[in-house]
Amino acid sequence: MKLTDAQMKHFDEQGYIFLPDWFSPEEVALMKRETNAIYAQRRPENVRERTGDVVRTAFACHTYNPVFEALVHHPKFVEPGEQMLGDRMYIHQFKINGKAAFDGDVWQWHQDYGTWKADDDMPTSRAMNLAVFLDEVNEFNGPLWFIPKSHKKGAIEASHDLSTTSYPLWVIDNDLIRQLVAQGGIVAPKGGPGSALFFSSTLVHGSPPNMSPWDRKIIYVSLNAVSNAIRSFKRPDYIAHRDFTPVDAWSDDCLIKAGEPRRQAAE
Ligand code: SIN
Ligand code: MN
Repeated sequence: MKLTDAQMKHFDEQGYIFLPDWFSPEEVALMKRETNAIYAQRRPENVRERTGDVVRTAFACHTYNPVFEALVHHPKFVEPGEQMLGDRMYIHQFKINGKAAFDGDVWQWHQDYGTWKADDDMPTSRAMNLAVFLDEVNEFNGPLWFIPKSHKKGAIEASHDLSTTSYPLWVIDNDLIRQLVAQGGIVAPKGGPGSALFFSSTLVHGSPPNMSPWDRKIIYVSLNAVSNAIRSFKRPDYIAHRDFTPVDAWSDDCLIKAGEPRRQAAE
């Protein structure tokens, strides 16, 4: 499942790569079913939107759900991850963002490394994300917005926004965004369920609210080089993990196998 030289070059130059249909329809169906069950639970890992009871993000699902445990061991995730980080990797954060129809709120302009540095004392930006679309992502349901090439700027000054949404975030001010967009523009990768994005921890990104009648669930697995483990433990460990064990790749069908007993039990 290694990435090609052309894909690696695109990642290096633009800060992301888009992989349509990276996971199969069967794998996506399993992950959607498990996500719906998780979203129905009341647990501290499920953070809700400011406006009501709708789940904004569900953290750490891979620590208690076998299907998502298998996802983080999937060769389509582990092999490109190690290739791009140039190291073994561990899971720094796992979340499934709901961006629910009508209620899904904004994610302000930010770099993920801004928060990981300020809150978790991650030494360098040698970390990144895998995003997996569980729904079709279109121009209406709050797609991710990326500023290509912004990852080359390294860690950018950010301020702690505790009020805009229900979730605190280190955000970048508008003047800087204007400059970065003048250089790199904005892209919004769109595609069907199962599509995937790998993006750098210093790529500047955000997403608008979802005014459409369509949900936009995306899984984010944040991977960090084992040589770059965090040094501050202020946040709950379901948000910033303390287990720095390198993740092994399992078999190509690990996700399907993990879902099978659960499918039979549901029938
Ligand atoms: C994020 O940047 O962490 C989430 C953005 C989104 O789900 O739209
Ligand atoms: Mn982010």
